[in-house]
Amino acid sequence: MSMDGDLIALVNKLQDTFNAIGGDNVDLPQIVVVGSQSSGKSSVLETIVGRDFLPRGQGIVTRRPLVLQLIHTPAPSGLGANPSASTSVRRSPRIDGYLPDLEQTPTAGAGVMRPGGREMGGNTGTEYAEFLHINRRFTDFDEIRKEIEAETFRVAGQNKGVSKLPINLKIYGPGVLNLTLVDLPGLTKVPVGDQPTDIERQIKNLVVDYISKPNSVILAVSPANVDLANSDSLKLARSVDPRGLRTLGVLTKLDLMDAGTNALDILTGRTYPLKLGFVGVVNRSQQDIMQDLPMEDARRKEEEFFHTHPVYRNLAHRCGTKYLAKTLNAVLMAHIREKLPDMKARLNTLMGQTQQELNAFGDATFLGEQHRGSLILKLMTEFSRDFVSSIDGTSLEIST
Ligand code: GDP
Ligand code: NA
Ligand code: MG
Repeated sequence: MSMDGDLIALVNKLQDTFNAIGGDNVDLPQIVVVGSQSSGKSSVLETIVGRDFLPRGQGIVTRRPLVLQLIHTPAPSGLGANPSASTSVRRSPRIDGYLPDLEQTPTAGAGVMRPGGREMGGNTGTEYAEFLHINRRFTDFDEIRKEIEAETFRVAGQNKGVSKLPINLKIYGPGVLNLTLVDLPGLTKVPVGDQPTDIERQIKNLVVDYISKPNSVILAVSPANVDLANSDSLKLARSVDPRGLRTLGVLTKLDLMDAGTNALDILTGRTYPLKLGFVGVVNRSQQDIMQDLPMEDARRKEEEFFHTHPVYRNLAHRCGTKYLAKTLNAVLMAHIREKLPDMKARLNTLMGQTQQELNAFGDATFLGEQHRGSLILKLMTEFSRDFVSSIDGTSLEIST
């Protein structure tokens, strides 16, 4: 079974099984973006999601944590027969998500969502977003960005203030993987505007709160036009992940390095050792943003940059947003594998309980409950047979 393409299928199956038996959710890592101010964090996060929806720009733009939960919803039945869906996007049933099927959709973003126009529902009519703080459904990414800005101002004030109160945003759709991503204010040294004198420490504490969770994968962003020795993100990541096991280095702004310099030593791991390595990317410049350069065009430009660069040309297959998405995909797969024995144990326990409940009901009156119970057993059995065994070669022991 091809790992990358089946990640979403696997996670969704796990999630369905756990949901059906009322257990906890699959414990997927949370991806947290860390870096100094304007290093390109929001830009990186956006390209991972594959949509334009985050406020970005020079200076302090992200002033509250944004906890972005992507939530997979089943595709509406009969989608394949829907002419507008099948003509506007060549859908590949298994590769919605982290690993975009770029061979089939050459203009795709690298995202966990399907590529498409600005209108969320443009492809399927089934993607939408909701904030925790407002009772309204959003279907337009420009409006989401405006709401993030408005809500930032509402709590963190007009004048560059920072608040640790997160903005919670959920994006639902058949093309997303259940995953949480966190965008954070940038690490900074000098207070500006209404920022308190200890702003450096406050932001640092805020960031550490998120990245110290062993379950978080740290995307440590450093701009290539600043010496890596000064990288705040790597310093902070190292303080919570000293062996560099869950830190992925992201080097932005490779297009802005001084002529005659390059980041080859960093990208090949000779400068700073990280188990997950460094991936170089080129995000949209401020000018690109002002000119509304579409995400697909930006991705094409990025690919061209790496493929034609005299130094990075030979490394191009390991650079860029697409490769970053692939790497994250692999990290998530490894995480799931590692957690499988534990998940199996939890399922076993729950199955034992369910069986006991069923026995207790006997052939009595609780038909609804009984139906639910047998559905659960069926789901678990399927899960055991088709999924667990296919990815680690052993099947779930049914202990009752
Ligand atoms: P954040 O403050 O770390 O979230 O950074 P943003 O994503 O808001 O980006 C800050 C500024 O840097 C914006 O003007 C971006 O357009 C620009 N930027 C980010 N990454 C790159 C890059 O790889 N190349 C270029 N040229 N500009 C970038
Ligand atoms: Na910024
Ligand atoms: Mg930002």
